[in-house]
Amino acid sequence: MEGFLDFFAGSGLVTEGMRGFFRAVWANDHCPKKAAVYRANFASGRFMQCGIERVRGGDVPEAALGWASFPCQDLSLAGRVAGIGGDRSGLAWEWLRVVDEMGGPPLLVAENVAGLVSARNGAHYQVLHDALQARGYRSGALELNAIRWLPQSRPRIFVVSVRADLDVSRFTEKSPGWAHSSAIVRAAGRVNDFLWWKLPEPPARESFLEDIIDPGAECNAEPVTRRVLGLLSPRHQTRLLREMANGFQVAPGYKRTREGRQVLELRFDRVAGCLRTPEGGSSRQVLVLKRDGRLATRLLTVREAARLMGVRDDYRIPGSYNDGYRAMGDAVAVPVVRHLAEYLLEPLCSAQKKDGA
Ligand SMILES: C[S@@+](CC[C@H](N)C(=O)[O-])C[C@H]1O[C@@H](n2cnc3c(N)ncnc32)[C@H](O)[C@@H]1O
Repeated sequence: MEGFLDFFAGSGLVTEGMRGFFRAVWANDHCPKKAAVYRANFASGRFMQCGIERVRGGDVPEAALGWASFPCQDLSLAGRVAGIGGDRSGLAWEWLRVVDEMGGPPLLVAENVAGLVSARNGAHYQVLHDALQARGYRSGALELNAIRWLPQSRPRIFVVSVRADLDVSRFTEKSPGWAHSSAIVRAAGRVNDFLWWKLPEPPARESFLEDIIDPGAECNAEPVTRRVLGLLSPRHQTRLLREMANGFQVAPGYKRTREGRQVLELRFDRVAGCLRTPEGGSSRQVLVLKRDGRLATRLLTVREAARLMGVRDDYRIPGSYNDGYRAMGDAVAVPVVRHLAEYLLEPLCSAQKKDGA
């Protein structure tokens, strides 16, 4: 099995998703709490805990693939959208510096939020695409939403790049496919030589939110539940009553401020909203459930958050509730990584090896 480098490795869900296809030979993240999760699950020797700014090409072993899930805050539409030049998303440049210093693996993947292609009509994507091209790579982006595999809506962009000398004709289409959103199509129009990667569609999802719920998890005391349900708008209250008469089990929601008032907004499509990192109470997902014929409320547990990311139940997540929730909210959904590894990255890697042989 070929080796891969897990840049911005966080709690290790990319390393986990790659299992069976690529072996992580090196990983890096600056966060001690994330490092603790990584080390609790994988050989700790390969983990370099420091800022990417301090990593030098010579620190990094040779590998077939370099994956970077670089920070998204400056590309997230909820954030400041400073873009790929921002303090945090701009760490992509530190990643590319390391890639330059080490000579550049044959395959690269950059993962981020949808804002990478949609913000400023694709201008941030254009900058990244051009920078990769200047380094001798050909690239194309895919949008994969975890909802195709898991009961969580989590669209993410995966920019897959290969060395320009590889013949990619059997891995690409002439036009956009199911994993190319309209934002990707727009962004592609801004650049030269965009690759329309070919990827099979996953089979229909079989799991729903109720399948990942821990029935033993403790719910809020009644006065808290009354207060939480009091945050529902009249429209959502009516919908909840209707659902109650209709086999309702669980609905997730986020607290938001609307016109200066805190409200709880629920969804009733049997999937969770995108997990986010808990900077404040409003970024943690609330569940409204039916318990013994009555409504109950509580926060999503860390294990439930992990299941929403496709993480196996024996994956160790040390630390506090917030540490665990953040570790999952920041991560890349495991089956999405696996799908990409199985149907595109590993075949590309084999073709690259044959070409070089
Ligand atoms: C989107 S998350 C990546 C998550 C990871 N791939 C996973 O699946 O768990 C971005 C990561 O970048 C890390 N990070 C932020 N600034 C960094 C820096 N200067 N050097 C190294 N890592 C950094 C964060 O700690 C976070 O884990």
